Amino acid sequence: MALLETRALSMSFGGLHAMSNLDMDVQEGAVHGLIGPNGSGKSTFFNLVTGVYKPNPGSVIRFDGTDVTHFEAHRIAERGVTRTFQLLRLFSEMTVLDNVLAGHHIHVPYGLAALIFKPKYVRACDSALRDEMMELLSFVGLHEFAELPAGELSGGQRRLLSLGRAIAMRPKLLMLDEPAAGLSPANVDSLMQIVLDLKERYQLTLLIVEHILKVVMDTCDRVTVLDHGQKIGEGTPAEVKDDAAIIEAYLGKEMSDEEVRAAFTSGHL
Ligand SMILES: Nc1ncnc2c1ncn2[C@@H]1O[C@H](COP(=O)(O)OP(=O)(O)OP(=O)(O)O)[C@@H](O)[C@H]1O
Ligand SMILES: [Mg+2]
Repeated sequence: MALLETRALSMSFGGLHAMSNLDMDVQEGAVHGLIGPNGSGKSTFFNLVTGVYKPNPGSVIRFDGTDVTHFEAHRIAERGVTRTFQLLRLFSEMTVLDNVLAGHHIHVPYGLAALIFKPKYVRACDSALRDEMMELLSFVGLHEFAELPAGELSGGQRRLLSLGRAIAMRPKLLMLDEPAAGLSPANVDSLMQIVLDLKERYQLTLLIVEHILKVVMDTCDRVTVLDHGQKIGEGTPAEVKDDAAIIEAYLGKEMSDEEVRAAFTSGHL
């Protein structure tokens, strides 16, 4: 079953068609990649699906069987759509544990303000919740830093924390915006392994935007390719990799087989 479906999804900024007639299905339980050159509409897609941007009339976005096209962003989040940002947005002064609790706030009665102003009170209120969040922190390897301010974590650890905080929102669909950007190759591999483990443990469906094509090829079971706001290809990683139109859209020039292979195995496009 498709967890997320878009039909004729379109959006314009003035005269610019940032998204044109996109029909896309993300199957429940899938790891779905969304790739395309700079400015092809990937972030616009995230913003449309999370309700931050409103699409043109005639567009349809269905999530988990419900038409959410006209839902406010917070209602879409409550239904189980969560995204991470390429630029991390953590509360540096708050502890690691309070950061994941903040992710969880959409499901608890006291809300985010209570967490910021009375974090100890909120934590004391719900030790089961605390246990659940500690389990999540262990999963991303940060439990021993639970009481440290998030600002003291390394770059890689902050990335793990933003992942943990997103999962604390109990999403069904987790959309990751360039999860591997800026990491060393060894850290990229371990991060993606954690992402896949989290997917199993928390029964997630993943939609991943990533410029490092190797990550997409190794991790995704289906890939959609955008160019100028339009879908120009879709299929398994192997199918997409062999599609000449996709290669041309990406690189805009003829490439040797060797160069193409290099782009898809280590390339950072
Ligand atoms: N707020 C905005 N106002 C006007 N134009 C915008 C806005 N946001 C995006 N665009 C334009 O819409 C198009 C799609 O942009 P988008 O950010 O979705 O691309 P992208 O695929 O995420 O690119 P990148 O890989 O660089 O992140 C681009 O031409 C961009 O300039
Ligand atoms: Mg973008």
